[in-house]
Amino acid sequence: MSSRTKSPKARAAELRQRLNEASSAYYVEDEPIMSDAEFDRLYDELLALEEAHPALVTPDSPTQRVGTTPSDRFRKGEHLAPMGSLDKVTSDETLGKFADDVRKRLGTDEEVAYLVEPKIDGLAVSLLYENGIYTRGATRGDGERGEDITPNLRTVRAIPLSLKLQPRERPPSLLEVRGEVFMPLEGFRAFTERQAAEGKRAAPNPRNAAAGSVRQLDPSITANRPLSIWVYGIGQAEGLELQSQSEILRWLRAHGFRTNPYAERLETIEEVGEAARRWETRRAELDYEIDGIVIKVDALDQQRRLGSLHGRPRWARAFKWAPMSAQTKLERIHIRVGRTGALNPWAQLEPVQVGGVTVSSATLHNEDDINRKDIREGDMVIVQRAGDVIPQVVGPVLPHPAGTKPFRMPEKCPLCGVGIVKPEGEVMHRCPNRACPSRGLETLVHWVQAAMDIEGVGEQFVWKLWNEGLLRSMPDLYRLTPEQLQELDGYGEISSRNAVEAIQASKEQPFFRVLLGLNIPKVGWVMARNLAQHFGSVDRLTAATQPGLEEVEGIGPDRAELIAEWFADEENRKLVEELRSLGLQMRAGEAERPVEGPLTGGQYVITGTLDGWSREEAKAALEELGAKVSESVSGKTTGVVAGESPGSKLGKAQKLGVPVLSEDDLRELLSRG
Ligand code: IVH
Repeated sequence: MSSRTKSPKARAAELRQRLNEASSAYYVEDEPIMSDAEFDRLYDELLALEEAHPALVTPDSPTQRVGTTPSDRFRKGEHLAPMGSLDKVTSDETLGKFADDVRKRLGTDEEVAYLVEPKIDGLAVSLLYENGIYTRGATRGDGERGEDITPNLRTVRAIPLSLKLQPRERPPSLLEVRGEVFMPLEGFRAFTERQAAEGKRAAPNPRNAAAGSVRQLDPSITANRPLSIWVYGIGQAEGLELQSQSEILRWLRAHGFRTNPYAERLETIEEVGEAARRWETRRAELDYEIDGIVIKVDALDQQRRLGSLHGRPRWARAFKWAPMSAQTKLERIHIRVGRTGALNPWAQLEPVQVGGVTVSSATLHNEDDINRKDIREGDMVIVQRAGDVIPQVVGPVLPHPAGTKPFRMPEKCPLCGVGIVKPEGEVMHRCPNRACPSRGLETLVHWVQAAMDIEGVGEQFVWKLWNEGLLRSMPDLYRLTPEQLQELDGYGEISSRNAVEAIQASKEQPFFRVLLGLNIPKVGWVMARNLAQHFGSVDRLTAATQPGLEEVEGIGPDRAELIAEWFADEENRKLVEELRSLGLQMRAGEAERPVEGPLTGGQYVITGTLDGWSREEAKAALEELGAKVSESVSGKTTGVVAGESPGSKLGKAQKLGVPVLSEDDLRELLSRG
């Protein structure tokens, strides 16, 4: 039957189902099955139908996710089963005690398996489904009653509005699902930036951001916040018989909920301890914050027999690590002048433990950032180690202590005394003095660490030798002898010899790394590799004209000018010659050889949504055959692969007369290749 001949009611039901499936595929399974354009088209059709026939609106209609009914205050929602909390363990020892207690209570010869999963640092919620339809959502509250935030949670796309059922499957009449709403780190970063741009104070961490977003009185605000959920349990269920925690997770997943893919069933408490340690280091890889792992006795029958004490189950524990943020005093703001002359402010902190590491300094980015957050010398500040290792100052604990003043960048370079400039349109202040000693120092640090990656030779080494006057440039490094090092504090015979050997060994590092280390403006990892591949040797690169440089992928007129200028400079040419005579690589070799294949020389752009693959997959497939895949269409583009809702790149291709390939064309191209 076509959509025209169907009754509005049947068509609405069909649209609801297709949209909910697409939404689940996108938000729950992370595997889109519908393009955005198609989704919007069906959504608009459903919206129009519902506007014409208001009686067709159902509580699980995707149109109900927008959050349109602000509440003036939250009602209290009573939980069907209490929402308990977890006792914590923090070491192998206390973990062992937990296992002993479990065994003692169950009888020592009974086998016990544990279900372990990340403990999400978000906001605990309870979701109620009546006959398979989401009817209420609540916060944990005191465990017996929480705040009713039904409309707010409805806006969270990862929460299904109705259970995913098999044909003729009957949903449980009543089902209470437990989970943790959180804000993914990427969303948190974007949200923080947005708040700052609007002049609003941002939440100090993703957990506060999630909690604040969910507890908005106006659900349309919640709807615009990047929230997601991992569900981890069932409170109450009528008409559902499950045997274990792992079965619960499988059932929840099959019925449309997001359950954590890292949940695992472990047979011994030793393995549980290993998992806790493994996750402490791996937590940084996740796109959300966790503050430990949760350990549950897997079998529900065993859980029942173990029972709870004051709402704390005897069958579960939270293995918690040290928190990733802490408060401390910001003693001073210092300025470090980087290898490009940029002034990088950093905070000297009163040492504090953050996530098991002592932190005594943190980056502060730039003046605007400091003033936006209103961070001042003398403040108590919140320090965070999020995702990456470099600690960040999140913001001050207000009010500022009396006598503190807003931060100002110095007017003169702290190292060479030359007046500081701030080029228009840039956020960083710069020391314009090319002979400023800090530049040489930072260039050397960049050379030994990032570019040459010399083992055992790092920042401390460079600083020390710099201060001794033994090191002023990269060539100096290759002339160091073990005897010279041995005269320094802390260097014995062996460590001196090792350092010199490692330095000498770095002469074998590929050409593109040499380029990266030369500190040519705007030449980072990708550009260094592109230049090395394109020109093949430093001689051809030095001889390149500006138009010649513009032929390299990713180089426009501005970069080409900067690079050409760098190679035209007498000092720089001398540096290159000196490094060459010392034996560093000045020609492209194996490391820079582009993949050779039938599509070598071809340059493609992918736009829109492809049906059968993700953009990454298509890119990888093309690259495997030697093609390059870039972001923007230009006269150099060989072809544009256009999927659904392709956007402006398609228009540009047509204007430039660049061939446009369909998904089928792409498939054929790849199979021919
Ligand atoms: S199970 C009886 N699993 O941690 C409570 N809790 O103190 C059983 N949490 O606020 C909870 N991730 O919201 C469980 N994978 C997970 C969790 C998790 C986060 C939170 C939970 C509660 C607190 C427990």
